[in-house]
Amino acid sequence: MALKVLITGAAGQIAYSLLYSVAKGDVFGKEQALSLVLLDIPPMMGVLEGVVMELQDCALPLLTEVVATSDEAVAFADIDAAMLVGAMPRREGMERKDLLAANVKIFKSQGAALDKYAKKSVKPMSHGLLSFKVVIVGNPANTNALICKKYAPSIPASNFSALTRLDQNRAQAQLAGKLGVAVEGVYEAVQDDNWLNNEFISSVQQRGAAVIKARKLSSAMSAAKAIGDHMRDWWFGTQSRWVSMGIISDGNTYGIPEGLIFSFPLTVGEDRSWKIVDGLDISDFARENSNLHMNDSASSKWIHHIFIVAKYNIILHLLDEFLPQDIA
Ligand SMILES: NC(=O)c1ccc[n+]([C@@H]2O[C@H](COP(=O)([O-])OP(=O)(O)OC[C@H]3O[C@@H](n4cnc5c(N)ncnc54)[C@H](O)[C@@H]3O)[C@@H](O)[C@H]2O)c1
Repeated sequence: MALKVLITGAAGQIAYSLLYSVAKGDVFGKEQALSLVLLDIPPMMGVLEGVVMELQDCALPLLTEVVATSDEAVAFADIDAAMLVGAMPRREGMERKDLLAANVKIFKSQGAALDKYAKKSVKPMSHGLLSFKVVIVGNPANTNALICKKYAPSIPASNFSALTRLDQNRAQAQLAGKLGVAVEGVYEAVQDDNWLNNEFISSVQQRGAAVIKARKLSSAMSAAKAIGDHMRDWWFGTQSRWVSMGIISDGNTYGIPEGLIFSFPLTVGEDRSWKIVDGLDISDFARENSNLHMNDSASSKWIHHIFIVAKYNIILHLLDEFLPQDIA
């Protein structure tokens, strides 16, 4: 049977890469038939029509159906997985609170739609977990995920996640370059704290801006790749690999307040349940940075990057510091 996969912001630039990757089997497997549901806003329906034509013209054998819509009731019904990419972009001169207000509206509505339309069809797996998965990409992703979750109260928090994998991938690639090894080999040996705490962090943090400067457009191909990596690892499990995903912070052992969507290093089991990797030795540098921002909840709230440098493992964390009470 075809999996029903919803991608929002489907007329946008990330979706343009993501759709092809999903539709050719990179994410849910090369044998899995797919019904793709594409959601965007009414003014983008013409553009979306063109995207649908192109998908059809790819003649992809796994793609059994493509539905393009601006109606959330249609989009969220019976879905197995959702990639919520669409969001209000930050425009020149726009203040963060305006950006947030626009996005609260979007993710409140989509959370409610999930609760109302997806819930009925959510299939429990044999162990009682809900099978379907939601990844929120639109920025600020952690906050948007929290809002979405809040307005879908009948769906367990563990079914929601925020994308932080692009930062992990960027970090991995920087490390590979530094070490002169293949990307898979970077967990092995970085022992240069000075480089890690300075050049490495700033190059990862500024990577998005560097892409915009060069391309005059924000990251799209790499974002799409990261979304695919995130969902594929959630769907099929990670075995012993660690991955970064923004998930509900409840019950964590790192002192992160409960009730946040926060990026932790995780492993994902074959049953699609994630587990935070516990007991990592958090460097003083990372601790200082995280505490600094964590205790600063009264001030305006920004996205912060936190790095945990364990002995042979380097994981990049993204903290979006909005606390639940900030969400109207
Ligand atoms: N979490 C991450 O690591 C990460 C990485 C890269 C980009 N992003 C974010 O992903 C988002 C999308 O980026 P993009 O480059 O594709 O942007 P884009 O502007 O090219 O596309 C966004 C699309 O979303 C649509 N949209 C707006 N409101 C919508 C709604 N209510 N429902 C459905 N669709 C809606 C727009 O019409 C547009 O087609 C941005 O918010 C960006 O900041 C996040």
